[in-house]
Amino acid sequence: MFVPKKGETIVEHQLVIVLDFGGQYNQLIARRVRECGVYCEVVPYSTPLEEIKKKNPIGLIFTGGSNSVYLENAPKVSNEIYTWGIPILGICYGCQLMAHSLGGLVTEAQEDTAREYGRTDTYFDTSCSLFKGLPESAVTWMSHGDYMAQVPEGFALVGKTDACPNAAIADEARKFYGVQYHPEVNHTEHGIDMIRNFLYEACGAKGDWTMQQYGKQTIEEVRQKVGDGKVLLALSGGVDSSVAAGILAEAVGSQLTCVFVDHGLMRKDEGDEVEEAFAKWDIHLIRVNAEERFLNRLAGISDPEEKRKIIGEEFIRIFEEEGKKIGTVDYLVQGTIYPDVIESGAGDAATIKSHHNVGGLPDFVDFKEIIEPLRLLFKDEVRKLGTELGLPDYLVQRQPFPGPGLASRVIGDLTKEKLDMLREADFIYREEIAKAGLAQSIDQYFAVLTNTRSVGVMGDGRTYDYTLALRGVTTSDFMTADWAKIPYDVLDKISVRIVNEVSNISRIVYDITSKPPATIEWE
Ligand code: XMP
Repeated sequence: MFVPKKGETIVEHQLVIVLDFGGQYNQLIARRVRECGVYCEVVPYSTPLEEIKKKNPIGLIFTGGSNSVYLENAPKVSNEIYTWGIPILGICYGCQLMAHSLGGLVTEAQEDTAREYGRTDTYFDTSCSLFKGLPESAVTWMSHGDYMAQVPEGFALVGKTDACPNAAIADEARKFYGVQYHPEVNHTEHGIDMIRNFLYEACGAKGDWTMQQYGKQTIEEVRQKVGDGKVLLALSGGVDSSVAAGILAEAVGSQLTCVFVDHGLMRKDEGDEVEEAFAKWDIHLIRVNAEERFLNRLAGISDPEEKRKIIGEEFIRIFEEEGKKIGTVDYLVQGTIYPDVIESGAGDAATIKSHHNVGGLPDFVDFKEIIEPLRLLFKDEVRKLGTELGLPDYLVQRQPFPGPGLASRVIGDLTKEKLDMLREADFIYREEIAKAGLAQSIDQYFAVLTNTRSVGVMGDGRTYDYTLALRGVTTSDFMTADWAKIPYDVLDKISVRIVNEVSNISRIVYDITSKPPATIEWE
């Protein structure tokens, strides 16, 4: 176990800063850097240089962006950044910005010259440290309409395409590198190797970013912050709140109270499994069995948004009541993760569904402070940390599960009978997917009880029972998704089992819509 002893000195890790110029791949760059074992943070390009210097990074990466550097309002950084003596990798817009700022010439690409989009054969000078150990040519992913007509003094051309002589430039003396393409996307062959070369060859990275190290540091920081105060955490059983609870348990276990509200809208046996998983930690876990309370509030409600609001509100009320029972609580823990941090403030997107996240609660009680132990981690890092902390796979590898639980998967009004039917059917579905060895290849799968009934025949009699829909999707970010191509024989087995084993369901359909236009959940 990696948990530090109280007061143990934790060695700080190195840092690379990604300066964000509004590129669509900013998070992906940060992900790649971390995959190379180097800690990295994304900060807006407008962050004052002094603030960046204070963080003492070992290197900077300028992201792409949709602007043209020669336009008046294009995002820029102070030229002082180039005399600081720190290695810089400029990507796409970031490359053009560096060239423009250091005396090169960037113009709009002419029709038949160097405007490049998509997969492009690219040739490299492998004596440049950015391409050390890589093949002399590879496919890269381009997306630029501007062109570096002239590169600044001191720079060599180290990468070219058939259309463009300066797909990559380098000033090895100053450790400045620029690439027109996007090394961070999967379509660029060896892209991550180029990033790794920048980090290890140019920046002198040591590869000291590990989940163990992060875990140790966070546990120690939490201990120092909390002192002998009391901490409250809303535990939903989802990955983020579970891992946050794991951290807090190790840091200040005896001062921590976790409140797990079992709203009766969980999957089969889920409430008990979550409780069991936390039994080994030295924490005060309160499980509030509130099924009746939730079902009473939800009786007769069929509008999806109204259901969500009721569940959200009721959840908060219960949490509040439990908080009061504990007495003065100094800190509240939230399971915020890094994508939420990067994206916060960006949002003018339309509300498709008011997501209710039981892990994140509003500021309804007086707390000294909020603790967010995962705010610097991506989802896969949170999972890794959970494993390091000894949380079972059952919790760490879970699929996302909506805060309102099965309430979003029973279409129309909710009753205990309907929920029980759905729980059984969903359990069979999951069991058969696991048996077929498909659990890892489908990112999310679940059953939905529709409110459509249809005529059937069972034995010699007529039935008029419910239609159950099965949903299965493949996706990397849950923002878009494709329907999973589950083999017919597996679907057949699931269908036969459900209609035989679950009463009142006589028809099974499989949802073959992608997102968009559908969403993953039905409500
Ligand atoms: P949709 O249905 O919007 O879902 O395509 C995208 C992902 O989010 C999950 N989801 C939720 N997660 N609270 C959550 O924490 C919610 O209210 C909620 N609604 C949907 C959904 O399961 C899918 O993974």
